[in-house]
Amino acid sequence: MCGIVGYVGPREATEVLIEGLRRLEYRGYDSAGVAVLNGDGMRTRKAVGRLSALEDELKRDALHGGLGIGHTRWATHGVPSVANCHPHTSFDGKVSLIHNGIIENHRELRRELMDQGIEFRSETDTEVVAHLVAKTYDGDLVRTFQKVIRRLRGAYALAVCHTDEPDKIIATRVGSPLVIGIGDGENFIASDVPAILKYTRKVVFLNEHQLAVVTRDGVKIFDAALNPVEFTICETNLSLDAAEKEGYEHFMLKEIHEQPRALAETIRGRVNGDNVDLTELNLDAAVLKGVRRIAILACGTSLYSGMVGKYLFERFTHLPTETWSASEFRYADPVIDDGMLVIAVSQSGETADTLEALRIVKEGGARTIAVCNVMGSSIPRMCDATLYTRAGPEIGVASTKAYTTQLAGFVLLSVGIGRLLGVTDAEDERRLVTGLKQLPDQVQALLDEDIVAVKRCAKRYKNVFNFMYIGRHFNYPTAMEGALKLKEISYIHAEGYAGGEMKHGPLALVEGTFPTIAIAPQGRTREKLISNVQEIKARKGVVVMVSTQGDEEARELADYLIEIPPCEEELSPILAVVPLQLLAYYTALQLGRDVDKPRNLAKSVTVE
Ligand code: M6R
Repeated sequence: MCGIVGYVGPREATEVLIEGLRRLEYRGYDSAGVAVLNGDGMRTRKAVGRLSALEDELKRDALHGGLGIGHTRWATHGVPSVANCHPHTSFDGKVSLIHNGIIENHRELRRELMDQGIEFRSETDTEVVAHLVAKTYDGDLVRTFQKVIRRLRGAYALAVCHTDEPDKIIATRVGSPLVIGIGDGENFIASDVPAILKYTRKVVFLNEHQLAVVTRDGVKIFDAALNPVEFTICETNLSLDAAEKEGYEHFMLKEIHEQPRALAETIRGRVNGDNVDLTELNLDAAVLKGVRRIAILACGTSLYSGMVGKYLFERFTHLPTETWSASEFRYADPVIDDGMLVIAVSQSGETADTLEALRIVKEGGARTIAVCNVMGSSIPRMCDATLYTRAGPEIGVASTKAYTTQLAGFVLLSVGIGRLLGVTDAEDERRLVTGLKQLPDQVQALLDEDIVAVKRCAKRYKNVFNFMYIGRHFNYPTAMEGALKLKEISYIHAEGYAGGEMKHGPLALVEGTFPTIAIAPQGRTREKLISNVQEIKARKGVVVMVSTQGDEEARELADYLIEIPPCEEELSPILAVVPLQLLAYYTALQLGRDVDKPRNLAKSVTVE
């Protein structure tokens, strides 16, 4: 995820670009940059951090001109830094280029260009394209760009300009969005409509592989063979707010629906045939063999993914694993030594409690791995290796896509490390890799169903004061996470409990209207959880069951039934949590809560 914007017309380009980037910040916000062309050539300004840092930079050293391109970054290749920030400039200083997506064959292209003596200034996959355009340029930027994009593999929305043709921006897309805005004597490009809504409502949605030539006086669109293409200009009726959320009422709902893509991204390139491939982490098998135990440190939702991580690590590495709430770990007296492998889990990478716990274990000599969603954030910077979840920016305070991608990350890590240790069974690896590959479609199918039972439940129980969530083993953390989601956005008290613990106390709460959400997909503990449900039903409690499609016993027992597709039991927390996210969402919606910004909470908790 990144945001791109371009402008050509009579206004100061930087004003339009900054307004556009502000509207695109939800796509990424670790650094930003602009390049502007005028009679003196091309000049670029970049800054790390929020857009305000770039604005400060432009106040110090303004850029003037009527053609420009801008980019707000969410790092995928290389940490957030000025060097890695877009726009990227070619070796001869004539080409400036912005990109949203991933150029999969960038390594081979980089090698080829380096062999020709080109020096790279960034770690990005994008820089190769700027140099390729400069190398290939033959006096016709359109033809040159066509030749260059034929060499690219991956997903991209690209926009380029050249000092020798200072009247135009050329843009194309494959797999990443790009829209063209039609103005009066001015034209625009952007990753998304809100970036240009202030200036025009007339838009053209560029199709895959098409190439647009955007000048002050008009827009021309060509197909991949450079044949001119007729295009339709649409009048958008989106409001600025709705457009940023791509039509969803809230970021949380949008992010729930982004999970198939986020999971596919997180798995991409990390499975190879029947195997997990963690080459990018550079894990040293000899060092891992010295590990005697694992500790997982995290807070909130990340802590619950860490609880699933514990079960996975114990199953696939046979190493004793404990999960710690980072805020507790700091003030306990944990035994730390160099036989300890610590996994710090964090969406933001900036959670103060997790950072502090990490500092303590590093001082004690432990090895460290981060599971994190934000490239270059503090936690990955402190760790020996990082498995980045690739969920894209998460804006809603209630974590959703970050959680399911962390769970996928734990499957990859535990199986991958287990294999390096010579412990993971090849058949287990094969069945989990197969299961992981099916997950994006399975989550999509769940979301497509619209889960009517979830909406009915939300409507029926929105006014109760207490909810109980129960699960066992892999889905005990699902119960905790489901309860946390409900609490934080609906303000209804909810508890997550291990099903087997009900009879040790909480069963006393159950009576006529008391609702329990029971998470009982197929797997080793399903039958035991069904018994717990029977105990609740015997006391006239109401039960909402999350079970595997075709489970007739669950159907008979449940007051409300939510079915998930059949899957490996280790992967069931990823599917089972989706209806619970939606239940929390629709309950909060019924109650008129501020879903994306619940009271008293913040997205990133950078204080103790
Ligand atoms: O960024 P982190 O994953 O470190 O954040 C940890 C918690 O603050 C976070 O998961 C919090 O619990 C969420 N609001 C839960 O939805």
